Amino acid sequence: MASLVEQFSARVGAAFAAIDLPEELGQCTESDRPDLAPYQCNGAMAAARLAKKAPRAIAEAVAAELEGDALFEKVEIAGPGFLNFTPAAAVYGRQANAIAGDDRTGAGSVETPRTVMIDFGGPNVAKPMHVGHLRSSVIGDSLQRLLRFRGDTVVSDIHLGDWGYQMGLLVTELEAEQPDLPYFDEGFDGEYPAEPPVTIEDLSRLYPQAASKAKEDEARAATARKATAELQAGRRGYRALLKHFITVSIAALKRDFDALGVHFDLWKGESDVNDLIPDLVQDFKDRGVAEQSEGAWVVRTAREDDKKELAPLILVSSQGSALYGTTDLATILDRQNNVAPDLTLYVVDLGQSDHFEQVFRAAYKAGLAKEGSLEHIKFGTVNGPDGKRLRTRAGGTFRLADLINEAYERAQTRLHEAGLGDDLPEDEFNRVARMVGNAAIKFADLQNFRTTNYIFELDRFVSFEGKTGPYLLYQAVRVKSIMRKADASGFEPGPIIVGHDAEAALVRRLDGFDAALARAYEQRAPNHICEHVYSLAQAFSSFYASCPILPEKDEAVRASRLALAQTTLKQLELGLSLIGLEAPEKM
Ligand code: ARG
Repeated sequence: MASLVEQFSARVGAAFAAIDLPEELGQCTESDRPDLAPYQCNGAMAAARLAKKAPRAIAEAVAAELEGDALFEKVEIAGPGFLNFTPAAAVYGRQANAIAGDDRTGAGSVETPRTVMIDFGGPNVAKPMHVGHLRSSVIGDSLQRLLRFRGDTVVSDIHLGDWGYQMGLLVTELEAEQPDLPYFDEGFDGEYPAEPPVTIEDLSRLYPQAASKAKEDEARAATARKATAELQAGRRGYRALLKHFITVSIAALKRDFDALGVHFDLWKGESDVNDLIPDLVQDFKDRGVAEQSEGAWVVRTAREDDKKELAPLILVSSQGSALYGTTDLATILDRQNNVAPDLTLYVVDLGQSDHFEQVFRAAYKAGLAKEGSLEHIKFGTVNGPDGKRLRTRAGGTFRLADLINEAYERAQTRLHEAGLGDDLPEDEFNRVARMVGNAAIKFADLQNFRTTNYIFELDRFVSFEGKTGPYLLYQAVRVKSIMRKADASGFEPGPIIVGHDAEAALVRRLDGFDAALARAYEQRAPNHICEHVYSLAQAFSSFYASCPILPEKDEAVRASRLALAQTTLKQLELGLSLIGLEAPEKM
């Protein structure tokens, strides 16, 4: 379906062509002076340079070409030669009916769908998640929803951090506590127990305990490093333990991510590609992609035109172990073998920019991936009120479950304060509070362009006023209630006729959906979806304030407004779903 901007651009382009100027000059946009007219075209300014004529004369010639065209009620020239367009009411009506009749309310699909791998979330086994992981989860989930909706085949992978030093720390900490477990007996060759020897609480206790000991005691750190190397080399008991740790962690993570409404297709981790590493390293050595440097094997990634020198990627450390970059390279190979993505997006904080630049260059150099097919989708930090990285009151990093629960509790309080949901059964009230809490966290994160840092102010995020997730849910619920009342009165939506300015303004917003999604898609930036749903909700509010629906006496006008409300609701819910928000029926 062509949007109004596209229809106008085509028509105005033809007018430019008719006076022997390039058609592209007819590109129209929504106006940045909506007080003058809702749409504009600045092509005459550029045409003036090409044709060496006054821009105003060109604008006049274009306007003359458009005279009497049914698309426009008015074509005006402002200033030195800006063309301003006011669409005809019938054009708004026709467009509104087309959007209302479309399953996707005007949202298009990509022309050439691709297979896209999205690597996001990235929590580490046993280590508590922090807000960086939360951002990655929220942004990555929105991107997977958006890309799928636009027609790509998406495979998402949580890419657990389960192969590094932290595993060595855990293994050795458990060994110190329970040395008699069979996992630590090197002579043991029986079957290991199927039940994990630890709970998630044990892991959450063991890891920080081990980490702080290792920080202070070099011998303790060396023990953990040795265990890490043994684990990676395949020590049987350690591998069995690692499996348990991963199982226990995944169960806990699944609970948290379910509560947040974030889904992953694959729950793979760094450890899953371990078996690919020896051959990969050998191949890199054989082909001269890797070279020796101070006892380690590295891949040089610096390029001549670099502004800042990029360090080589360390493939094998001088102690013989695989590092973060090594598992990332092996993962690229694994994904190539199993998914063969056209594009891979890594949704990871911008602090890891150099790491990904190294990995991408090494992968291209080795021919593991096609140049340009790997993208780092960077994001900034979440800060506390002091402007520094967000910490808990105790100084540690936030746990995802705590954060979700805090938002949930505040949402409950806010709902009570606002007198919302009082007549819902308790279960349902709590379900609504969860939706509000999640919406608060997600929208606050996604509304900024992803590289922007923001301050975590839960109180503001859960407010039903302002540019917040809860405000949007509230607006959706309000429209749902109008639709229910209409239904109860036996009113039906009908053909849309645009009479009032506020109706035209609402149609313009509805019509901007596809462009907003296309922008979000191109820039991998969900903030454009947030911007759209927010402006749609606002346009609906203004419309509703000046155009009564249920009390309207004229049946055709009432049916038209009801159809506008219904279409707004459909698009609002669709837009919200693309940023991972869900509106309840009532609140
Ligand atoms: N586990 C990593 C971290 O906590 C994030 C993983 C990102 N993905 C990747 N393929 N490296 O920093």
